[in-house]
Amino acid sequence: MPTFFGENRFKFGLFGVNCSGGMTPSIAPDRWKADWKEIVAVAKLADDAGVEFLLPIAKWHGLGGKADMWGWSFETFSQAAALGALTKNTGIFVTAHVSLITPAFAAKAIATLDHVSNGRAGLNIVCGWNPDEFGPHGIRLTGERRYDRGLEWFQIYDRLLEGGPEFDHKGEFFEVWGADTSPLPVQKRPPVMSAAQSGEGQLFAAQAADILFTGFHSHEQVSDTISNINRMSAGFSRRQDVYVETQFCIRPTRAEAEEYAHHYAVEMADPDAIDYFRRQKAATISESTKKGDTAADRAVAAALTGAVGRRYPGMFPAMYPIVGTPDDAVSELKRLADLGCAGSTLVFLNYLKELPYFVQEVFPRMERAGLRASYAGV
Ligand SMILES: Cc1cc2nc3c(=O)[nH]c(=O)nc-3n(C[C@H](O)[C@H](O)[C@H](O)COP(=O)(O)O)c2cc1C
Repeated sequence: MPTFFGENRFKFGLFGVNCSGGMTPSIAPDRWKADWKEIVAVAKLADDAGVEFLLPIAKWHGLGGKADMWGWSFETFSQAAALGALTKNTGIFVTAHVSLITPAFAAKAIATLDHVSNGRAGLNIVCGWNPDEFGPHGIRLTGERRYDRGLEWFQIYDRLLEGGPEFDHKGEFFEVWGADTSPLPVQKRPPVMSAAQSGEGQLFAAQAADILFTGFHSHEQVSDTISNINRMSAGFSRRQDVYVETQFCIRPTRAEAEEYAHHYAVEMADPDAIDYFRRQKAATISESTKKGDTAADRAVAAALTGAVGRRYPGMFPAMYPIVGTPDDAVSELKRLADLGCAGSTLVFLNYLKELPYFVQEVFPRMERAGLRASYAGV
């Protein structure tokens, strides 16, 4: 099993810069606008700092509310190719909805991106949750059996990357014939990520992914997810790294950090956007979540009712807020590394304004804590 993205004990993926609002449902004036020049600037900053990868969000519909978060978004394959040409070292993910992209398209696009970026492409497979995103494509999305469909999609994609002769495939969800692809990627198999939370999502990741990127509702839920996926993937002779969703508000003092987080994620929260998100996600809820199979399922179900009081309503329900000093950030991250997490998301209200301070203050402390090595660039 290859180790992706180097040897750092705790790795980072810069998440969501291709969409307005990023990952923060807030109307604060400083919110992320996803201006292309700013996306390039922040991608280069991350690249220079040794951030392991960039992870975009695949979006086709905004969340409404006052800011219409995600109402403006760049398509992930095309922006990834551009960013691949503009960066040197960071991994470049695309996010593919299995009902919108064919496996043959994905195989060719990933190979293209892998050549453009000299072996830095990665594929995040998502099976969809918001039916409104699929209307413009003429597709009626339901949550039913989405991961079965995703698995068959992955099997065709994976076989294409084998590079063998043309093949036909007739399955339950897909029929293709005369399938092959050329060129193959520079990496033998660019890393496959599954971004999901439910027990069904975990089972899919155990069979198809190298990385499970998942929500973070509590430390107990994270350790339950890690032991579940380790147990399941052993049955498929695979192994996954588990990454979780974290959002940072880091300032020199705890009081300053809390004040700023309160400003943007409480006073300026966009609750209508989160209400819409909850309604849409509930419409396609996984069977395992209905049954409460895993700790993650129970956490998702609780988050969807809105019954769980949240300190920061202007952050996503599955996003873990890390608010405090650089030292506070490192002790939280150390706890995650000790639980067995391979890494987490870098999410800020405004990536370009907050990433430099994070790199300057948190990265050296992580080095001293043995979580990251110093990075000299390439
Ligand atoms: C880290 C992370 C990133 C995700 N990125 C996307 C995305 O870009 N587009 C999307 O439609 N869904 C995205 N999702 C949603 C999941 O793919 C999945 O459809 C959703 O979580 C519902 O399934 P679940 O209940 O199994 O988690 C993401 C989820 C997570 C945890």
